[in-house]
Amino acid sequence: MITSSHPQLNLFPTQTPNNPVLTSAQLKTARSGTFTDNMKLPVHRWFRYSAGFSADWVKQLIDKKSKTSHLNLLDPFAGCGTTLLAAQACKVSGTGFETHPFVYKIAHAKLHWHVDASALWQTSEKLIELAKKQLKPTQRLDIPLLNKCYTPDNLAKLDALRNAYLELDQNDARILIWLAITTILRACSTAGTAQWQYVLPNQVKVLEPFIAFKEKIAQMVSDIVYVQQNQWGKNASILLTDARQPQFEPPELFDMVITSPPYPNNYDYADATRLEMTFWGEITGWKDLQTAVRQYLIHSCSQHSAAERLKLDNILFCKIRFCNRLKRNSQMLVKHWLKFVSPKVAKKLITLW
Ligand SMILES: C[S@@+](CC[C@H](N)C(=O)[O-])C[C@H]1O[C@@H](n2cnc3c(N)ncnc32)[C@H](O)[C@@H]1O
Repeated sequence: MITSSHPQLNLFPTQTPNNPVLTSAQLKTARSGTFTDNMKLPVHRWFRYSAGFSADWVKQLIDKKSKTSHLNLLDPFAGCGTTLLAAQACKVSGTGFETHPFVYKIAHAKLHWHVDASALWQTSEKLIELAKKQLKPTQRLDIPLLNKCYTPDNLAKLDALRNAYLELDQNDARILIWLAITTILRACSTAGTAQWQYVLPNQVKVLEPFIAFKEKIAQMVSDIVYVQQNQWGKNASILLTDARQPQFEPPELFDMVITSPPYPNNYDYADATRLEMTFWGEITGWKDLQTAVRQYLIHSCSQHSAAERLKLDNILFCKIRFCNRLKRNSQMLVKHWLKFVSPKVAKKLITLW
């Protein structure tokens, strides 16, 4: 994580002989790098993004800072919007950049918690009715991933929900219907679908799509009511733009950067949404991820270089040139961000980088 106006935090608190037991605050920090705890939090839990970090940890950072000052946050690698939603819960402003089109759409949908809860409920009821009426055998079992992941019956029902969604009028609730269908896709699959490994031994509990959809909508409606009653701030937005060259004019300077960039840890962000993107017809298979997603992302996975694999001799030969380019690029990136942040934050960024 990079937190620019704080000292760099440890992901795991250090234990010493004098401090063998973790306090609850330390425990929270210890879990700062995982999304697990977010599955108990309103709105955050609408979609499980295994690359996400802890919203509670973000809130702790914001709380410390915003007690004394107005706060305008930036998350240049916003993912599914954890920082932005935490900013809204703390009633401070936030802006996020995300360049994975599908992950961007998920975050964008989550920021729609301000819709009318009863309108969402009614739209979902109509959708189920329509889906049940139009239910017919699926034509999509020839798509290998869908064939591996679904029974014909479940795929037919999911397809019926999808077709009914496509017929919906444009309104604010529509994007949340899209999110609800997207979110149940893994729970309705017979395959254990870990984020980067699609077909594991059979999943024991497989949900029925119409029931799963209804339950998801019920969860969303109750979160919407909760969040609206608690008057979360509305001043947060996400932009589909590359953090390396954001197409964006900041309305004011940022006071704080909370982010978790793609580390070279072999996590495949493009593959993480392969099932969902295949279901929605945005890709037909793994190969399409290159043009649909990967070309926009910072590489974090060595397998992605397969097509452009280099020979060791060439790598060694190019080493100095590469190091210089890396240095130049990171200097350019910092210089670019400096324009957006206050002098205090800028000083901290320079020290960190
Ligand atoms: C570690 S994840 C961030 C997760 C986020 N903290 C959350 O809780 O959801 C890093 C994100 O950076 C995105 N990303 C990769 N390259 C990017 C780029 N050039 N510009 C903006 N975002 C990018 C990835 O798609 C991924 O969602």
